[in-house]
Amino acid sequence: MTMEMPKLPQQKGIITPKIYSEADIQLEAERLSDVIQQKERWDIEMCKTIAPMTLEINNLKKEKDVFIIAHTYQTPDIIYGVADEVSDSYSLSKAARDAPQQTILFSSVRFMAETAKIVSPHKTVLHPSPDAGCSLSDGINGQDVRNLKQKYPGIPVACYINTTAEVKAECDVCVTSSNYLSICEKLPGNKLIFVPDKFMGKHLQKSLKGKKEVIIYDGECEVHAVFTGEKIKSWRKRMSIQGIELTVLSHPECDSDVLEESDIIGSSEKLIKNALELSANGKKDIMLITECGTAERIMAESDNELNLIGACVMCKHMKKTQLEDILQALKYPKPEQIIQIDQDIIDKARISLDEMFRLAE
Ligand code: 13P
Ligand code: SF4
Repeated sequence: MTMEMPKLPQQKGIITPKIYSEADIQLEAERLSDVIQQKERWDIEMCKTIAPMTLEINNLKKEKDVFIIAHTYQTPDIIYGVADEVSDSYSLSKAARDAPQQTILFSSVRFMAETAKIVSPHKTVLHPSPDAGCSLSDGINGQDVRNLKQKYPGIPVACYINTTAEVKAECDVCVTSSNYLSICEKLPGNKLIFVPDKFMGKHLQKSLKGKKEVIIYDGECEVHAVFTGEKIKSWRKRMSIQGIELTVLSHPECDSDVLEESDIIGSSEKLIKNALELSANGKKDIMLITECGTAERIMAESDNELNLIGACVMCKHMKKTQLEDILQALKYPKPEQIIQIDQDIIDKARISLDEMFRLAE
């Protein structure tokens, strides 16, 4: 494995977990080390330091009947230690909608927790890190969409799920990285407005060329914008000199030169599924062009030999949430950790999400 991985989370000291016996801590640390599957980085001693927190979170979760959802970009201690559901943004919105529990704790960035509230307004949605934003969702507001609609009247508006509830309320349909191509193709007419990701928008323009004109906005993901097609080319060259044939997997939030150099493009969940299939079929030399969490899940979930090449980039917003924040939000939720959205915004935003579920299925 030549990929450089992010540093392990440092404890913040915002809450003191309950005291457990040595035997309980040892047992939990062994469980964590087994499920995290990175024995060098997450060794027993490291796992012992987080064991009291995972024990208490898992007990509280049962006691309070809470469903914990974590996005793939969360750290492995959250994903494998306490989460009930882990996936990409599309599957997680469905999981939030369908969970029977009346309380959902969403470990991720704000727009995902807001989406959970929109699709299940009668549930309490806890978001441990209220200031965990996203460069895409923070780069556009409802007025920006209203301006576009005024400039291009009557044209359907598709918004990426990485937007606030206020923006979703202005759109006709919401899309995610797993369905933007198929849903946008199905929209009526020969024009559409796509907000806010300009790179995904460029990919749509290319894919729908000759069928639809796509009007795009100027947003970008600060993480995926870092990658370049040139870097991929030079890695491919370097590896081929050593007789290694790389398979490049990229997230569609990357620029078009990156996507052109890629063998597989897809959501975080699709990239994981494809990487696991590749390694199971003996194609172990993989370059991942995305956030580090994807690589961490592939390493934990692969039973086969893997050679991850290159360097991933970390999303500072996604990594804001730690086990301590989850424990604190479960025990003593602060008002800002409970998602509140005006009913009229929920009602309007719900239309764009329901339309996504309808067109994606
Ligand atoms: P996914 O839906 O692919 O998980 O992407 C969400 C995201 O924010 C990627 O940066
Ligand atoms: Fe937003 Fe990019 Fe972070 Fe995803 S990786 S949450 S798009 S800033």
